[in-house]
Amino acid sequence: MQPDISVQNLSKTYGDGFQALKNVNLDIQKGEIFALLGPNGAGKTTLISIICGLVNPSSGTVTAAGHDIIREFRAARQAIGLVPQELNTDSFEKVWNTVSFSRGLFGKPPNPAHIEKVLRDLSLWDKRNNRVMSLSGGMKRRVMIAKALSHEPDILFLDEPTAGVDVELRRDMWEMVRKLRESGVTIILTTHYIEEAEEMADRIGVIRNGELILVEDKATLMSKLGRKELRLHLQQAMDELPPELKDQPIELSDDGYELIYTFDSQQEQAGVALLLRTLGELGVEYRDLQTRESSLEEIFVGLVHHD
Ligand SMILES: Nc1ncnc2c1ncn2[C@@H]1O[C@H](COP(=O)(O)OP(=O)(O)O)[C@@H](O)[C@H]1O
Ligand SMILES: [Mg+2]
Repeated sequence: MQPDISVQNLSKTYGDGFQALKNVNLDIQKGEIFALLGPNGAGKTTLISIICGLVNPSSGTVTAAGHDIIREFRAARQAIGLVPQELNTDSFEKVWNTVSFSRGLFGKPPNPAHIEKVLRDLSLWDKRNNRVMSLSGGMKRRVMIAKALSHEPDILFLDEPTAGVDVELRRDMWEMVRKLRESGVTIILTTHYIEEAEEMADRIGVIRNGELILVEDKATLMSKLGRKELRLHLQQAMDELPPELKDQPIELSDDGYELIYTFDSQQEQAGVALLLRTLGELGVEYRDLQTRESSLEEIFVGLVHHD
């Protein structure tokens, strides 16, 4: 199947000579939720701005919904909804008007039923006759999303959608993204919150210094790079690790009541079985046992500090 978005050998050098993107290659399939994860200044907004036709690439090609973003700009742009990182919401316009107007900009005939649905989905219906500038920050952000959805795009970009928003809006946003995906919309979001990528994405791309250093299914990423931890809560505190366990990746907590064993999640469980057997032979009793996987946060920190 042809990817919904295809980025090939894309580089960008800004006018001042700064290279913000370095030979980026990326295909995104229809209906995917793709998270572009990276620290500030990594090039996320630059990449999105190029795909949306707001910034010119220096080299490389991009297609969106099968259209070349330069040669077939209008068709490509019509398929895309963009919620920009910077919100420009000083508008005196009323919510209903500004959202309807956005739709018109894309050459779509009026469709009040669609606008109503978008406003209701975003809990903006009660505010439809309010001026945008009178709304709270969270509500303004919803208006930006409504505008981006006004022309029924197949692809939605959310550039740092939850930077600085409250927990409630973040939840609503995630909920909305899931609903949109169910309706077949492809979603690309950028974030520097790992939690967000972990919560939302099917696939994750990690970008750093303009280079896409990794693209992976979230689950694969977590199992490839993830570590698992087994914690045993002991009946009786130990003064130190028994010599039989000293050459294993195992630690004793400061209070002596916990043994913490770390292993690769890909590795077989054999190590765990051996550990439990050894403890049995040593007569060490434990009252509880827990395992946990490393979070994407821990994986990401590991990646970024890798060099
Ligand atoms: N118009 C511009 N001119 C020069 N440099 C820019 C311009 N826009 C962005 N940059 C630089 O490109 C880099 C990537 O920026 P950006 O794409 O906004 O990163 P991100 O969205 O990941 O935080 C940054 O170092 C930024 O300063
Ligand atoms: Mg940005």
